Amino acid sequence: MDPALRAADLRALLHQHAHRYYVLDDPQIPDAEYDRLFQELQALEDAHPALRTADSPTQRVLGRVLDGFVPVRHQVPMLSIRTETDTTAAGAEAFDARVRRELELPTDAPALAYACELKFDGLAIGLRYEQGVLVQAATRGDGETGEDVTQNIRTIGQIPLRLQGKAPPVLEVRGEVYMRRDHFEHLNERQREKGEKTYINPRNTAAGAVRQLDPAITAERPLSFFAYGLGDVQGWARPATHSATLDALADFGLPVCADRAVVEGAAGLVDFHRRMGDKRDALPFDIDGVVYKVDRIELQQRLGFVTREPRWAVAHKYPAQEQLTLLRGIEVQVGRTGKITPVAKLEPVFVGGTTVSNATLHNLFELRRKGVRVGDQVIVRRAGDVIPEVVGRVPGARPVYVPNFRMPTVCPVCGSQVLREKGGIDHRCTGGLFCAAQRKQALLHFAGRRAMDIEGLGDKLVDQLVDGGLIRTLPELYTLGLAKLAALDRMADKSAANLLAALDKSRQTTLARFLYSLGIRQVGEATAKDLARHFGALDRVMDASLDQLQQVVDVGPVVAQSIRHFFEQPHNREVVEQLRAAGVHWDEHEGSDIANTPQPLAGQTLVLTGTLPTLTRDQAKALIESAGGKVAGSVSKKTQHVVAGAEAGSKLDRARELGVNVLDEAGLLALLQPAPDDTH
Ligand code: IVH
Repeated sequence: MDPALRAADLRALLHQHAHRYYVLDDPQIPDAEYDRLFQELQALEDAHPALRTADSPTQRVLGRVLDGFVPVRHQVPMLSIRTETDTTAAGAEAFDARVRRELELPTDAPALAYACELKFDGLAIGLRYEQGVLVQAATRGDGETGEDVTQNIRTIGQIPLRLQGKAPPVLEVRGEVYMRRDHFEHLNERQREKGEKTYINPRNTAAGAVRQLDPAITAERPLSFFAYGLGDVQGWARPATHSATLDALADFGLPVCADRAVVEGAAGLVDFHRRMGDKRDALPFDIDGVVYKVDRIELQQRLGFVTREPRWAVAHKYPAQEQLTLLRGIEVQVGRTGKITPVAKLEPVFVGGTTVSNATLHNLFELRRKGVRVGDQVIVRRAGDVIPEVVGRVPGARPVYVPNFRMPTVCPVCGSQVLREKGGIDHRCTGGLFCAAQRKQALLHFAGRRAMDIEGLGDKLVDQLVDGGLIRTLPELYTLGLAKLAALDRMADKSAANLLAALDKSRQTTLARFLYSLGIRQVGEATAKDLARHFGALDRVMDASLDQLQQVVDVGPVVAQSIRHFFEQPHNREVVEQLRAAGVHWDEHEGSDIANTPQPLAGQTLVLTGTLPTLTRDQAKALIESAGGKVAGSVSKKTQHVVAGAEAGSKLDRARELGVNVLDEAGLLALLQPAPDDTH
């Protein structure tokens, strides 16, 4: 293609995408794709300097002030940093070499000290503090002029409205507003439950939230902040190094990321890049690279700037967490609870550090809303330990007609009917444990590390056991014999013996693990632990009423209902009995509230009224419950005691009417003392 035509095409494309990205906060292509187009244009312009037009996106910093916000002129321009896209060690070495050359250091000069930080993936913000008070917050805009977003920024709890300690007359803090990955997932989970549009990634969601005209909307989005530098400063002798500056900012009460280090020379940079790369998935937020800054401010000043980028800093990237690829097909997967998830079959693509060929499309509604069809170019995101997902498609006409995806009406695994609950979002296979897919998932869950922890019982073996008809129910696991196992394809005698040993070992467990392993809907690890702690014995959980279940911390009506429903099914009770008969056991009461605290109020109902002299209502309730008692909202004949404090109202009258015992706080505390025969 004619380079002039290609350059014009690239300019138009980049302008279009930059507008969507910077102005509308609604990008259509992943950053990595934008970078590729940008670099292609840069290369073309380098090869043919005549093609470098004044309006080329390579020639100016992008971004525009939105109509609704008041423009803010930055006292000190908000610069960007040069990006090193070579994600290998060479990227760090090139930066160190460049800095040393520009400082005209002799080759044998000692290694330079660098401040290394994470490159947060959010939105740059300048926070202006005058006499320690936050007076203005502004976005970067085009670097010279940004937008006044003070109202919105004030809704971010992490940002101090007043600095701690002896604050200078003027201190402008620069940093990044971002959204944690768990907050983002939670937000999307809620959107999904409501059947509403999900957000694409934490970065755009954070940026969108900051630029809301209505601060009430910003306040609903969980945003966070990290400080990473300074803008305008007056009346403060700033520290001599960047790292000490960040320490000072932390002392002023600003959030500064702990994952930073001062390192020496290129080797130190390479090491930091590698260490943070290893840690990337485990961080609670997205980063797209690390940032190296020459630590000594005096050296920074000597290095100065090229166009709008400091020579003393560089962003060293990691592999992108979003990529474009071809959607080859859509299949469905049947989960443990029968939920049918559409799964994208992709042209394999390297994203977030691994090659991805499957990604979730969550549910039919989301798939429809994103409008993806087989043959589309789609955006795949893989960040942290979140499963890869398709977040959207690249808009554009399809060359041929492609029919829309339809949910199967019968389960592709067991042929049972597929249904969607009225008003619900998810489609489910109604086959239950008749469905081999659900059985397999149930087995895998049961055997999981956090459940019964049966080492060696993985995907492949479960497939063989279920497909070969060796196992139909969970308890049958414990009836497997060496002969049956060793007859399986590719199963050596030794592995069969190992599996049997692992199964045997798993028989000794805890109530919490056992409850979790049953795979009751809504009962995750934490809830299983709470249930075990509260009830102490399996039979008490199985027979608990909805009310009793809701006495457990964090168990609401939905979770309680799900637990009741599970144990009301005769076949589930049978599974439990068979597992016990197979020798699965645990110490009842181990680690439970019941074992640890005597239960002087067991079976008694108390009512609280008025204000107690030292205990809050919640504290009193917790004390009563931990002593085995129950707190009710109204007085009846079934009430044993009414605990009355100052300004007790009608409940006290009612207690007198019914002749119910009335106590004050001291009386309650006395009641909580275990009876003499309770203490061993
Ligand atoms: S320093 C003069 N440090 O990356 C240097 N920037 O182009 C000013 N960013 O949008 C930037 N983490 O908001 C710096 N630790 C960090 C950063 C960081 C993220 C963002 C910044 C800007 C872009 C730089």
